[in-house]
Amino acid sequence: MQNRLVVENINFSYGKNKVLDNISFTAENGIIALLGNNGAGKTTLMNVLTGLKPAKHGKARLNDLDLLNTKEYPLHKVGYLPQNFNIYNNITGLDFLSYVYDLKNIKKSNKKTYIQEIVEKFHLGSVINQRVGKYSGGYKRRLGSSWSTSPYHNR
Ligand SMILES: Nc1ncnc2c1ncn2[C@@H]1O[C@H](COP(=O)(O)OP(=O)(O)O)[C@@H](O)[C@H]1O
Ligand SMILES: [Mg+2]
Repeated sequence: MQNRLVVENINFSYGKNKVLDNISFTAENGIIALLGNNGAGKTTLMNVLTGLKPAKHGKARLNDLDLLNTKEYPLHKVGYLPQNFNIYNNITGLDFLSYVYDLKNIKKSNKKTYIQEIVEKFHLGSVINQRVGKYSGGYKRRLGSSWSTSPYHNR
């Protein structure tokens, strides 16, 4: 699927500290890097684009969807794996994926198939029934990226 994220004149301030000053860019399919010094505002921008922080001005459109003014944020279309990715250690990877899909309002009838596909695609089969607390750092990130980058959300 061809995707297009158009960001226009995003502004964000913490009190008087203006952190995002008219940020505009367009991103299409592929790997896009957002580079900046520590404190440049990368995390703040990601929080705005994922609906975690409200922008005062500006627009962000994902394909034909207005990301900043939707009544309900389109959780099923957007994934985000932050640097510090903490999950419940006492549940299995399978329970975790199931929980994530519930949060994303994925239809129950599709859930099992999506999870199976993801487990296969991300080679999680050997650990998926183990407690997440036992995962190595690499497997934890793999579990996190499996759902946050999944194309299945668009179905
Ligand atoms: N919750 C917050 N309250 C006040 N200031 C913040 C908060 N989060 C970040 N900042 C400030 O906003 C600026 C951008 O931070 P951040 O978006 O975390 O940058 P980056 O992710 O690029 O390192 C920094 O000056 C930081 O101190
Ligand atoms: Mg950051």
